[in-house]
This record gives sequence, structure tokens and C-alpha cells, in this order.
Amino acid sequence: MNKNVASDFNTAIPLDGVDALLSPASVHPKSLLDLPSGDARESLLAAHGILRAVLPPGKLAIYEAGGGSTSFLPLSVLDRAHVTVVDIDEDQIRNNTYADKTILGDIQSYRFKPATFNLVICYNVIEHLADVEAALLRFCEALKQGGLILIGAPNPKSLSGVVTKYSPHWFHVWFYRHVRGDRHAGEPGQAPFPTFFHPLVSLSRLETFAREHGLQVIYRREYESPRFPEMRARKPVLAALLDAIAVVANLFLPGKADVRRGDYHVILRKR
Ligand SMILES: C[S@@+](CC[C@H](N)C(=O)[O-])C[C@H]1O[C@@H](n2cnc3c(N)ncnc32)[C@H](O)[C@@H]1O
Repeated sequence: MNKNVASDFNTAIPLDGVDALLSPASVHPKSLLDLPSGDARESLLAAHGILRAVLPPGKLAIYEAGGGSTSFLPLSVLDRAHVTVVDIDEDQIRNNTYADKTILGDIQSYRFKPATFNLVICYNVIEHLADVEAALLRFCEALKQGGLILIGAPNPKSLSGVVTKYSPHWFHVWFYRHVRGDRHAGEPGQAPFPTFFHPLVSLSRLETFAREHGLQVIYRREYESPRFPEMRARKPVLAALLDAIAVVANLFLPGKADVRRGDYHVILRKR
């Protein structure tokens, strides 16, 4: 089985403990090494630190809800885990190389035996669901006591969140192809996937839901979308324009709110 180890040894990323003696590529998944340096990468590293510290030693049972071809988990976690992926898209299931078991199914309705998993990861998926509550209830049920849920999702109140939420799918495909340079965008099994933005995608609502359902929020961070540094490198004029729009929009927001914080990570722990 290929657990998707990256081959890039040149990326400088801070490591901790024993990991510091190893090359980044033997510790971090390709998804992290591919992130431009900045907020997104820092937040994912912080989330990895929490997973390493809180998950129990020994073999882990992990449920990846909405698989895809790339894992966002630290390799020290992935390498000692039995990973079950559920995805609704046959091509995505076929693209997946790191799962031990793949299931073609809908995470809003698919049920596992209660208390099966140490970790549920749902990364870049909840924005695509019509019923986020149903999926979260299934995750809680499938989780062991003390188990974790890691969610990565877009912030619907950010600049990119608002644009994504209110623009048609063809625009998302155009953006991926022409701004991000992904020639295969929109082809079967390839991002972007249609979005719904159920109200529970909002981080504050998700946190309220978590507290009401016996889940403790142990990590939360809104961070600058990696699209900004990506665009600054690929399309500097467009990036400068969007940065200027963001600066003006931020003037109308309270405190230190920044509309560039387009994504978030949250880790929930089942009490
Ligand atoms: C943007 S991709 C993210 C894939 C992967 N987690 C990642 O970050 O690379 C969204 C994934 O969610 C899956 N998906 C969307 N709705 C789903 C549902 N109701 N049940 C299961 N999978 C779903 C899609 O097929 C796709 O694989």
C-alpha cells in the first residue's frame, strides 16, 4: 500500500522532538509540503501536533469522510492507522492510494458500528454537503469516547467564502483552470466539486453544534487561504487587486477580522 509519501526534500518546515531528526518528507504528507509557507501551513502543522499528542499510542482506526487522493494527516499517524474512506464519487475512490478500505457511500447516511474510530477526518468536504448535521451525527456515533474529529473547511464569511458561495459552479471550474493552473479541473473525479454551504459550515455555528452534542473544541484556527500566496506567485496583479479589496473590506469589520482568512481547522474531542 502506498501511503503517499512526498519526494520533496527541500521544503523547510519546523519539526518537533524525534521528528526534527528526520527529513520533512518522511514526516509530512505531500498535501502539507505542497502548501505555500504561511498561515495555512502553520495551522495544519499545529493541528498535526495536537493529533500526535492526543491520539493514543498503537494502532489507530481512522475514518476519512470524503476521501480524495491526498491525505492531510501526519505520516506518523497515517502509518500506524487502518484508514477507512467513504466517498460518494467512484473516481475519487479509485484515485485514493492510502486507504486500507474504501466504501462508495454518502457520509450523510453511512453508519458504522458505534465507537469504532479514534479519529474522523473530514477535509474540504462539509461545504459540499446538503445536510452537514446528519454527517456530524454519524461521525459522533462512529467515534470512540475521547476520539477526535478534524475538520478542514472554507470560512463562508471570508472573501473567498462569499465568492465561492454566491458564484456558479462553472466559475469555480474557470478559476481552478485559469488562475490556479489546474488543466484537469472539473473533469470526472477532479476538483472543484459543487458546493452547498450548509449553515453549519460557519465555524461559530459548528462550535455551538459541537458543544450541544458532547464534543469539546480543542483546536480552532481561521487562517489565510493558501489561494492568496498561490495567487501572489502566479497572478501578482490579480493578487494585488484582491489584497486591496481585502484591506478596504477589513476596515468595515470589527477588531482584527481579516476577510483573507478563507479557511479553518477545527479539532473536536468526544467527551
Ligand atoms: C474537495 S474534495 C476533498 C477530497 C479530500 N478530502 C481532499 O481534501 O483532498 C471533496 C470530496 O468530498 C466527496 N463528497 C462530496 N459529497 C459527499 C457525500 N455526500 N458523501 C461522501 N463523499 C462526498 C467528493 O466526492 C470529493 O471526493
